Amino acid sequence: MIKEQIPDAETDLYCLIGNPVSHSLSPLMHNYAFRKLGLNAVYLAFNVQKNKLQEAVEGLKAFNIKGANVTIPYKTSVIKHLDSVEDTARIIGAVNTIKNRDGALIGYNTDCSAFIELLKEKLNNLKGLNALIIGAGGVARAILYGLIENNVNVTVTNRNTDKAESLIEDLKKQFKVKPECNIIRLSDVKNEISKFQIIINATPVGMTPNMNETPVNTDYLTSKMLVFDTVYNPLETILIKKAKRIGCQVIEGYRMLVKQGVLAFKIWTSLQPPAEDMERIVYLKLKGERIE
Ligand SMILES: NC(=O)c1ccc[n+]([C@@H]2O[C@H](COP(=O)([O-])OP(=O)(O)OC[C@H]3O[C@@H](n4cnc5c(N)ncnc54)[C@H](OP(=O)(O)O)[C@@H]3O)[C@@H](O)[C@H]2O)c1
Repeated sequence: MIKEQIPDAETDLYCLIGNPVSHSLSPLMHNYAFRKLGLNAVYLAFNVQKNKLQEAVEGLKAFNIKGANVTIPYKTSVIKHLDSVEDTARIIGAVNTIKNRDGALIGYNTDCSAFIELLKEKLNNLKGLNALIIGAGGVARAILYGLIENNVNVTVTNRNTDKAESLIEDLKKQFKVKPECNIIRLSDVKNEISKFQIIINATPVGMTPNMNETPVNTDYLTSKMLVFDTVYNPLETILIKKAKRIGCQVIEGYRMLVKQGVLAFKIWTSLQPPAEDMERIVYLKLKGERIE
């Protein structure tokens, strides 16, 4: 039985800053966790206009908001408004979590750690494995950094090859020992795919409403591969369905969404959130089922 807590004058506030935010699952996930733990806290979603970002961040301090998530399009632009940024988020150049520590706003990136934690749950040793990242946008950047940090050999493919190149060059500058990263054209994936143990979709391809699309031809997948799709709507993309049928290990995007939320919750509260419940509630919501 979940304890009800009616917000009062002592309620701790948490929020999401982004635009748009109306489809976000973070309020549901975090409010559920607060209630489950009996915490006097609420989480709200704020749709912030582009020219209001600075004021919104200052507002976190003014209203003593304890913690926040940041989503598209502000993960990078928010950085200049923070008091400090933890190393991983600084190197990636994106913050998705803010903690208000006694009036100082500190930025973190839990997308990267969520991705790596999930991968490590399936694969004991990442060192020396070959991974293919499809996409070169924001989430690809967090994933690329996490993989390099864990000594995975990474290849990036993107429909715009120049963007893949600048992503790699930009990230390489952050390492004293330059990591080996390759780029291949999307059209060459079919010839090279057999050498990868990990395939990651970091594009929106396969997302609702274009659910019949896959980022690469799935005929070339083999059962020895792990397939990670960052897309979480639908719960199971065609890529994940086909990979499962072939016998691959799979990680669905909704699990990353929940994990980054679990890690943010820990940063804010120093408490262990009810991770399984958070995952169940997000799963049910995405499935369109009733949530009790
Ligand atoms: N599960 C999670 O927790 C989580 C977290 C963050 C993001 N995501 C997912 O990750 C996806 C990407 O997010 P992002 O923030 O990285 O977006 P982004 O910065 O806009 O980057 C999108 C990337 O996808 C590529 N792309 C877009 N449409 C494509 C298409 N039709 N065919 C081939 N490539 C295409 C883009 O290629 P170009 O460079 O050529 O434009 C770019 O490399 C989102 O759709 C979201 O579902 C999931």
